[in-house]
Amino acid sequence: MDLALYLTARTARIDRALDGFLPRASVKPVTIHKAMRYSLFAGGKRLRPVLTLAAAEACGGGLPQATPAACAVECIHTYSLIHDDLPCMDDDDLRRGRPTSHKVFGEGVAVLAGDGLLTIAFEILAQAAPTSRYSTAALIRELASASGSRWLIGGQVADLEGEGKKLTGPQLQYIHCCKTAALLTASIRLGAMSANATPARLAALTDFGQALGLAFQVIDDILDVTQTTEKLGKTAGKDVAATKATYPAIHGLDRSRKEAHRLTAAAHASLKPFGKNAATLRALADYLLARDY
Ligand code: IPE
Ligand code: IPE
Ligand code: MG
Ligand code: MG
Ligand code: MG
Repeated sequence: MDLALYLTARTARIDRALDGFLPRASVKPVTIHKAMRYSLFAGGKRLRPVLTLAAAEACGGGLPQATPAACAVECIHTYSLIHDDLPCMDDDDLRRGRPTSHKVFGEGVAVLAGDGLLTIAFEILAQAAPTSRYSTAALIRELASASGSRWLIGGQVADLEGEGKKLTGPQLQYIHCCKTAALLTASIRLGAMSANATPARLAALTDFGQALGLAFQVIDDILDVTQTTEKLGKTAGKDVAATKATYPAIHGLDRSRKEAHRLTAAAHASLKPFGKNAATLRALADYLLARDY
């Protein structure tokens, strides 16, 4: 399969749909809608919504049914980045190759732009059609749980509390599973649910998402120390400067790379029940491992 072509096509569909779901930048009060769109259309890789669509396709589902969930996860992800970059959190000036939201709009509007994206995610997801196995409420619960205080938000709290500390391997893994792998797993599960996946297939994709999601954050940690700011579109070397608990800081670069490979292999293994239908998901897992930004 031609993954580059696939990514271009799916990203274009996601961008079109997001544009349709978001209030125009001219809608009052214009500042908030400008700010929400500024971060959402800043050139993110769209990996989570692409995974939603690819999981739906692997389960024999249609793209239109999966599109609200795909857009909802990207809104949550973008909100989490706006807040992650705030001076009271990671204090970053650059995101997706542009000045961060608070640098352009001020901290108050940046907080609210994050809130606006978090809220609209559920307005969008509420438009997803139910299937015989999964109600729209089940989809909403899935996303709320993954984004909530037990997972994404909990992981961000543990990340802040971990600054300057020498954490154990399991403590670090807990942070990464919560702050990153949970939303990535939910992105995949929501695609499968929109396709009315059997419980066995949903369970296999959950294993896939958890391994892939953890690998994703391990690689993000590695890229922070190995890539340039220009390449990343966000400030390189920030984790060391902020004494963050990261895989390279705790395990070293070599072991971190090995762990990313091991997790990607585990992700592949969970796709066994899908046979040829998971070719795209397999290619995406390899692409995430090999990425350089
Ligand atoms: C960055 O995610 C934040 C993490 C959870 C590591 P991405 O690398 O997917 O960021 P964008 O969406 O492409 O900007
Ligand atoms: C971000 O982790 C996780 C969430 C936003 C939930 P990082 O702080 O490592 O992400 P980057 O490196 O700033 O993109
Ligand atoms: Mg952070
Ligand atoms: Mg950060
Ligand atoms: Mg990072």
